Amino acid sequence: MTTRTLLPPDAIEEAATLLSAGQMVALPTETVYGLAAHALDPTAVTRIFEAKHRPLFDPLIVHLPGLDWLDRLTTSAGDPLVQALVQRFWPGPLTLVLPRRPIVPDLVTSGLPTVAVRMSAHPVFRAILTRFGGPVAAPSANRFGRISPTTAAHVLEELGGRIPLIVDGGPCGLGIESTVVAVDSGSLHLLRAGPIIPDDLSPFAPLRSPFSSCGPRVAAENPSSPAAPGQLPSHYAPATPLHLLDSQSEADTFHPSAHAALLAWCRSTRPSQFEAMEVLTPSNDPREAAVQLFAAMRRLDSLNLDLIVAEPPPSSGLGLAILDRLRKAAAPRN
Ligand code: TXA
Ligand code: MG
Repeated sequence: MTTRTLLPPDAIEEAATLLSAGQMVALPTETVYGLAAHALDPTAVTRIFEAKHRPLFDPLIVHLPGLDWLDRLTTSAGDPLVQALVQRFWPGPLTLVLPRRPIVPDLVTSGLPTVAVRMSAHPVFRAILTRFGGPVAAPSANRFGRISPTTAAHVLEELGGRIPLIVDGGPCGLGIESTVVAVDSGSLHLLRAGPIIPDDLSPFAPLRSPFSSCGPRVAAENPSSPAAPGQLPSHYAPATPLHLLDSQSEADTFHPSAHAALLAWCRSTRPSQFEAMEVLTPSNDPREAAVQLFAAMRRLDSLNLDLIVAEPPPSSGLGLAILDRLRKAAAPRN
C-alpha cells in the first residue's frame, strides 16, 4: 500500500472520505499523532490493531466530534463531576474512562465495561471529525510498544506502507500523550500521567494516583488485563536500550562501557564519555521538554549506538509525566 501525506485544507475532505469508507487515517492531535478509524465500525477498528501490531487486550481511546456524543457513548454524561471536568478541560489533553453504552464495539474497549473518551483541541483533527460526523478510535500512530509520533515524518517511519493517508498538521504542540483518568463514584484514578497534571485535577475530586516522585514503579496487577495497558512496564521504547539515571548530576560520573548517547535535561556541554547528546530543554521548562522528548529519543535511536543514558526530569507536575515515559522506555523489554 502506498502511504500519501497531505496537508490541510485538501487533506480534510480526503481524510473524512476514507474514514467513512472504513479506512485508517493518521491525524495530528495536540498531544501526539493518532491512527484513526470509524469507532463504531468493528472492521475499521480491526485495521488499527493490525497496522500497529497492537494486542487486542489494549483498549483504544474514542475521540468525539462534539459533546453530544458523550451521552451517546457513555452512561456518565449527566454526572456532575464528569460535567465539571469536561467544561474545564475539553477540548484538550484529558481522556476520561467512563462506563460505556452497548453501541461501543467490544473491540474498542477490549471487552471492558468502560470506554476511554476524549475531545482533541487540534483544529485539523476537529475539522476532520466534524466533516466525518462521528467518533473515531485513535491510539497513538506508532507500532505497538514504540515511541509515539509527534510529526508526520515519524508516522511515516512507523506505519509507512500500512496505511493510506497521513494528514500533516505540523509538529504536535504538547508532545506527550493525554492524561488518562477513570471517574468512579465521585473520585478520580489517574491511569496515565500527562499534560493535565494532578494539581489541575485535585480541586475537582479526590485523586488516586500511582505516580509519585520516588514511589514504586507502576505495575499492573494482572499484566494480561491491566486497567490501562499504557501501564505495561515497557512502552514508548526506542530500539536502543535506555538507562535512566537517578539524578542529573550522575551523568558527569557515569561511564558507559559501550558507545552511548546522553538524553540530557538542560545542560549546555556534552560530557566527553558520551558520543552524542540531545538536550530536552535548554531553558529548564518541562513543557519544552515534553514537546522535544519523543523526537529527541528518535534521533538518538537512529544513531545506532549501544546505549541511551537519560537524565531524570524534576519530579513534580509535568516532570512526572515525562519521568513516566522515560521509566517505561528504560524498563526491561518483554
Ligand atoms: O494523547 C493521546 O491520548 C493519544 C492521541 C492520539 O489521542 N492517544 C493515545 O492512545 O495515546 P493510546 O492507545 O496509545 O493510549 C491509550 C491509553 C492506553 O494506555 C489504554 O490502555 C488506555 O488509554 N485505555 C483505553 N481505554 C481504556 C479503558 N476502558 N480503561 C482503562 N484504560 C483505557
Ligand atoms: Mg500509544
